[in-house]
Amino acid sequence: MTTISRPTPADRAEWDALWQAYIAFYESEVPAHVSDATFARILEDEQLHGAMARDASGRAIGIVHWLTHPATWSTGVYCYLEDLFVDPESRGSGTGRALIEHVRAWAAEHGAEKVYWLTQGHNATARALYDRVAVSTGFVHYEIEV
Ligand SMILES: CC(C)(COP(=O)(O)OP(=O)(O)OC[C@H]1O[C@@H](n2cnc3c(N)ncnc32)[C@H](O)[C@@H]1OP(=O)(O)O)[C@@H](O)C(=O)NCCC(=O)NCCS
Repeated sequence: MTTISRPTPADRAEWDALWQAYIAFYESEVPAHVSDATFARILEDEQLHGAMARDASGRAIGIVHWLTHPATWSTGVYCYLEDLFVDPESRGSGTGRALIEHVRAWAAEHGAEKVYWLTQGHNATARALYDRVAVSTGFVHYEIEV
């Protein structure tokens, strides 16, 4: 059975393994001091929030991170799901779905109006899941590095 819980300081090594694998999935790099700060802010649970999934043996197999922000189209907040990763060996058995549901339930409890996230158009595996649990808005994502 998969369990989902907030990370604690003792989870740093397992979180790091999943976080680094997630960054590698995007063929990207995050400086060590940023990873340190991210984990610290997730532990604070104020601006950034996170959860880890564990399998029946207690092994960490997935992570999800999210945050809320105000919105001009609402007096409430929106919940942005920023990172989602499941260990390749543990995929296809509902962990990704459970992590998204965890964020949805958290958002409902905290008065957010919606949960939203981005994915690359070609990420067919992730989209197979997302098409089952959410609505694709058709928006296209742009950004400017500053
Ligand atoms: C996307 C990701 C988090 C999904 O995790 P997961 O634990 O495998 O997802 P689930 O097992 O909950 O899958 C849910 C649904 O998608 C389907 N699915 C999962 N993998 C699939 C695949 N490779 N092809 C087709 N469908 C798939 C499952 O059948 C399941 O449907 P069901 O619940 O109706 O049977 C995982 O593949 C991952 O970490 N990918 C790399 C990182 C990534 O892309 N992150 C998201 C960035 S936006």
